[in-house]
Amino acid sequence: MTGPADRAGFIVAIDGPAASGKGSIATFLARRLGLPVLDTGLLYRAVGVAVEQAGGDLDDDSTAGAAARGLDLDDLGSDALRTRAAGEAASRVAVHTAVRNALLEAQRAFARRPGGAILDGRDIGTVVAPEAPCKLYVTATPETRARRRHAQLRAQGESASLEDVLDDIRRRDARDGDRAAAPMVRAPDAALLDTTDLDIDAAFDAALRIVEASRGRWEKS
Ligand code: DC
Repeated sequence: MTGPADRAGFIVAIDGPAASGKGSIATFLARRLGLPVLDTGLLYRAVGVAVEQAGGDLDDDSTAGAAARGLDLDDLGSDALRTRAAGEAASRVAVHTAVRNALLEAQRAFARRPGGAILDGRDIGTVVAPEAPCKLYVTATPETRARRRHAQLRAQGESASLEDVLDDIRRRDARDGDRAAAPMVRAPDAALLDTTDLDIDAAFDAALRIVEASRGRWEKS
């Protein structure tokens, strides 16, 4: 991974809705390219869980903002962040500008590591790293994403019905996409990767082709 020394490293910005496959794709690409990866959803999940654990109101801007400012960014490994409830709490605190502002600089610092980086989330290509030379918007139908998330939750020991998980997905899509602050939206220069009809290996191959093409252009520019 080279490039002129006076500019940032190769940044891969991956956005898309819940359970689209973007997290698995980000992890795969990070291994293949030898780049560090940040799952930015974990930051919002950690804020949501912190507010709930303190008995606070997820919908209160200043409560959630204070939790975001107090977040320990090195402490994102807990299984409690992977639950269905944590995803819902994350989506609720993510509407607050105070929360988004508190988390922005850490995400930008990660993106601008000299050697390059991969980040996945909802606003990476639009707000966190709009300068990224490689952007992917990963999506799939709500039904497909609900089936995937349902299987994942069951493997973690959660027993929600498929219908409930589909409801969650639809509610989160609406909340994440309709909010005023940094809504989930495909950046105009993001490559669209629809994984509805792709198994995981085909999705990895398609993502890798997009990234290699971007990297080739970036190295020449
Ligand atoms: O990717 P995820 O499901 O772990 O994200 C959880 C929630 O966090 C998601 O519903 C919206 C919010 N989020 C966000 O607003 N911006 C990001 N960059 C990442 C996540």
